[in-house]
Amino acid sequence: MPIQKVGVVGCGLMGSGIAQVCAQAGFTTIVREVSSDLVEKGLKGIEKNLARLVEKGTLTETAKGEVRGRLSGTTRLEDLKDCDLVIEAIIEQLPAKRELFATLDALCGPAAIFASNTSSLTITEMSTATKRPQRFVGLHFFNPVPVMKLVEVVRTISTDPAIYEEIVAFGAKLGKTAVRAKDSTGFIVNRLLVPYLLDAIRALEEGAGSIEDIDNSMKLGCAHPMGPLTLLDFVGLDTTYYIANIMFDEFRERRFAPPPLLKRMVLAGWNGRKSGRGFYDYTDPQKPKPMSL
Ligand code: CAA
Repeated sequence: MPIQKVGVVGCGLMGSGIAQVCAQAGFTTIVREVSSDLVEKGLKGIEKNLARLVEKGTLTETAKGEVRGRLSGTTRLEDLKDCDLVIEAIIEQLPAKRELFATLDALCGPAAIFASNTSSLTITEMSTATKRPQRFVGLHFFNPVPVMKLVEVVRTISTDPAIYEEIVAFGAKLGKTAVRAKDSTGFIVNRLLVPYLLDAIRALEEGAGSIEDIDNSMKLGCAHPMGPLTLLDFVGLDTTYYIANIMFDEFRERRFAPPPLLKRMVLAGWNGRKSGRGFYDYTDPQKPKPMSL
């Protein structure tokens, strides 16, 4: 049976984006959060994104209604029991993810496929919480999910090749370029992106340039949509610090080691755009001002 119904667990930044693109691609989609407030918040964000697409003329009002008709929210994990594919986008903590997948394993039919949107944890370690490691993959999306054109499809040594191809094809149905990646920490993008971001912090620490000059260098000199320090604020300094530590633990290479400045900023609660402060001050979000560090 082809994939028809998709369950998304987690309706935060990533989960809501994933649910939106699944519903837009024609899949019946159900998204689960732990409280009705969070379900409502996530669905409101999707509604706003869809309304913006209608405003721009990318989506008709009728098509928007159809997308909304395919999308529902719930607080009950049981409501995902008849899904063909369940994509997890909850907190980046291995025990929480393993517990979730063990519960889903008992609830869902034997043919259901499980996927994790983790950016740095090991897919293999999650898959062994279930009795279906052969039907288990990584599906790593990028923020903002509706805009970014890539999805990394991750296979473990246990993933069934036919299931893997089905998920690669699913990624393409979402309108993404699906790249094939092995279950190696950081997959492809973060293996390359994280050392680059950490190097930008080291360049700042070593006085190679100011915050704005480092950002403008990469933005204007290499046509990146954002400079590295702006991108760090966008991804979240706490998130980057967490990923870097996992990658350093795995590879024991200096390029993945979080620089002292990053650690201190995270300790101070300067987590980037979401906390109002990082390399820039977002008191006026339209006009971020570089911090003096
Ligand atoms: N949801 C939906 N659409 C959004 C959006 C969001 N959160 N944010 C922006 N957009 C849309 C806008 O509506 C706009 O659409 P149109 O051009 O059709 O009008 C378009 O994206 C561009 O937005 P803006 O004009 O507001 O701003 P921009 O041109 O500066 O683009 C950006 C914003 C898309 C975020 C761009 O700056 C960008 O691509 N930045 C780099 C993002 C990136 O690298 N993401 C990956 C991070 S790494 C990661 O996610 C994985 C990990 O494991 C850490």
